[in-house]
Amino acid sequence: MRKDPLLKHTITIFLFGLSIVFLLNSCNSSGKENRTSSKTETQTVTKSPLKVREADLPPYMAKGRKVYRQVCLTCHQANGGGVSGLNPPLIQTKNVLGDKNRMLEIIFMGSEAGLEDNKSEYANVMQGYGMLGDEEIASVASYIRNSFGNKAEPITVEEVTSFRSANKK
Ligand code: HEC
Repeated sequence: MRKDPLLKHTITIFLFGLSIVFLLNSCNSSGKENRTSSKTETQTVTKSPLKVREADLPPYMAKGRKVYRQVCLTCHQANGGGVSGLNPPLIQTKNVLGDKNRMLEIIFMGSEAGLEDNKSEYANVMQGYGMLGDEEIASVASYIRNSFGNKAEPITVEEVTSFRSANKK
């Protein structure tokens, strides 16, 4: 009977040790799980092709889209398709893809049912947007020239600045 308390002690110590081993083990494995899941997340982010392309875009695309959405979208629509009978589309037209000065002329001075290509077709009047800054005009024009399926050389801020000073009254 004297051995009993000693045996009890040994068992308790043994169980205590066992639980510590068990605890350490479970901590370790959950840490491993965390590490693996965060690794998978990083891989998904770097693999996303959209993110990579967005970062590769020239800065005028982001700036121009912002101006376009704030100022031009109501009439020319998000896809550049315009509104039939009211506002012309900005897709593959001579005024959009052609001479930079002609496009700047329309943006600066506006246009009133006078477009050679679409005479009297569009009931709306476009006011001039010369009150926008040179950088805003350069980026929105370049954005349009490279969106909606268009592909044309961007217009630089310097080109807008010299257009503005050449057309000062
Ligand atoms: C109130 C509506 C309206 C807004 C806002 C507007 N436009 Fe226009 N836009 C027109 C109309 C209408 C025409 C056609 C005018 C005409 O027939 O003479 C036009 C024509 C154009 C053209 C020539 C289209 C072509 O290829 O023949 C360009 C380029 C253009 N707009 C760019 C812009 C830009 C850039 C903005 C924003 C800074 C803008 N527009 C904002 C109504 C608008």
